[in-house]
Amino acid sequence: MKNKIPTREEAYELLRKYNKSESLIYHALAVEAVMLHFAELFEEEDKEKWGIVGLVHDLDYEMYPKEHCKMTEEILKNENWPEDYIRAIVSHGWKICTDIEPIETMEKVLYTIDELTGLINATALMRPTGISDMKVKSIKKKWKDKSFAAGVNREVIAEGAQMLGMDLNEIIEETIKGMQSIANEIGLK
Ligand SMILES: [Fe+2]
Ligand SMILES: [Fe+2]
Repeated sequence: MKNKIPTREEAYELLRKYNKSESLIYHALAVEAVMLHFAELFEEEDKEKWGIVGLVHDLDYEMYPKEHCKMTEEILKNENWPEDYIRAIVSHGWKICTDIEPIETMEKVLYTIDELTGLINATALMRPTGISDMKVKSIKKKWKDKSFAAGVNREVIAEGAQMLGMDLNEIIEETIKGMQSIANEIGLK
């Protein structure tokens, strides 16, 4: 069967089908918003694609945590998603659950901001004002405190920044902006 370009609505439906956990839905929406923000920043034409790839990147994580990335690949193949969407989604797990390396800019951004949204989210939850007036330096402070949000792999973020050839501070700043745009929907206000 021929591949079909998924719409945002179809992607969201699929996300809801495989994810019941509120925190995973919030994470999916946060990554989607940040991907859209970066697509705008880089003046990408296919913004919707960036958003969709972000939205479903962890599709299999709730039901198949041990087969993370691999099950997403299978599910999306069965849904007849295009190869480049699937490749981009799977490449976020480079060296962790797949050997597919991020090559395209969209893939590098996803790889970089996935873990970073986790650090920003954890930091925002500790602050009385949430994410609304968050500055880069609050994140840098938490970055150095390795016991804080210990599950967030700082090395992956730093490696991603290097792949993008972008300054880490700038990436943090833009990721905060992306998440601020949907603060209400992801429980950060
Ligand atoms: Fe993941
Ligand atoms: Fe993720």
